Amino acid sequence: MPDKGGFPHYMLKEIFEQPKALEDTIAPRVSRETAEVRLAEEVRIGSEELRSIRRVNIVASGTSRHAGIAGQFMFQDLVHLPVDVDYASEFEYRNPMISRGEITIVITQSGETADTTAAQREAKKKGSRTIAISNVVGSTIAREADGVLYTHAGPEISIASTKAFTAQMAVLFLFAAYLAQVRGALSESERKKWIAELQALPKKTETVLEQAAECQRLADRFHKFESFLFCGRAIHYPVAMDGALKLKEVSYIHAEGYPTGETKHGPIAMIDESLPVVIIATCDRNDAGSVLRYEKNVANIRGFKQQSGKVIAIATEGDTELPGLADHTIFVPHAPELLSPILEIVPLQLFAYYMAVRKGLDVDRPRNLVKSVTLE
Ligand code: BG6
Repeated sequence: MPDKGGFPHYMLKEIFEQPKALEDTIAPRVSRETAEVRLAEEVRIGSEELRSIRRVNIVASGTSRHAGIAGQFMFQDLVHLPVDVDYASEFEYRNPMISRGEITIVITQSGETADTTAAQREAKKKGSRTIAISNVVGSTIAREADGVLYTHAGPEISIASTKAFTAQMAVLFLFAAYLAQVRGALSESERKKWIAELQALPKKTETVLEQAAECQRLADRFHKFESFLFCGRAIHYPVAMDGALKLKEVSYIHAEGYPTGETKHGPIAMIDESLPVVIIATCDRNDAGSVLRYEKNVANIRGFKQQSGKVIAIATEGDTELPGLADHTIFVPHAPELLSPILEIVPLQLFAYYMAVRKGLDVDRPRNLVKSVTLE
């Protein structure tokens, strides 16, 4: 068992290991000179067959499924392939219409989750190729897959998944970029731009970690609240879901992750001074779609405030509008939307961690939870 490296808990250590986990996961797979993505030996499916793939399925559980939802946006935007994401535990009941000519990506930190193993076997039975994304070399799911893309996050001891999650999203982006490269869906200049943005993430994550004290102050202010609503649009929705899951897992406080646009269809009835809202409201000013979504988020925050809701916003560095609107604003460095979830989740991980510490709970071993559920 690795030691805590001077940290009070494995969870905090693993949150702070994310820059290194990202660097170790990304660097060996991209050529520094050409920004070419090199995954052939790991994917073990020939280019010809990859060019014939006409859809992608993603199955996973818990935090790993949240990575899969972020991955859905990456594959659809970079490779223009339709993607379905399923709870592994629900997959078999959906009688998935899977056949040859598809790949099923199986995301699992431990590589031993029973629901996910069952889903992988179901996909194989229906003729799908399977690609495992796992953090444990030689794990069951890795061994049973056609190709394996390991996250190089190092052992993740804390039950709540943090560094494995951000590394999973980096691997999903690499795989999407690789498929786009093989299928000619990205020009060389576009690929170089994307890879440069990906390679900038470890440093940007260091910058986000400098907000740890601010996240601790938020936990001191909010640790007595009994329920939270986390919301995000588009690729930021899985970030909201994982922020909510982290809080539930380690602090036992009820929290729900919701698509921001959907909050008007019900959840806003609950919003008052007793239900704080955490909203991902970052903006990539170079992306018209992102600006549109940002404007809608600003309108949502105004609405939450009118209901005397308390708003914690995750914003992009340099944003001068949100601090005047939200009660608290945590800034993350600018990144293109497809990559910003890797930065946005970090303050939410820290917030959940400090909430659990403030409540005097066993952060690394939350009650009733295990690191890998090996029974269905
Ligand atoms: C849960 C863990 O038991 O399993 C979560 O508490 C995890 O952190 C989920 O996301 C899935 O586990 P794995 O190993 O398949 O990613």
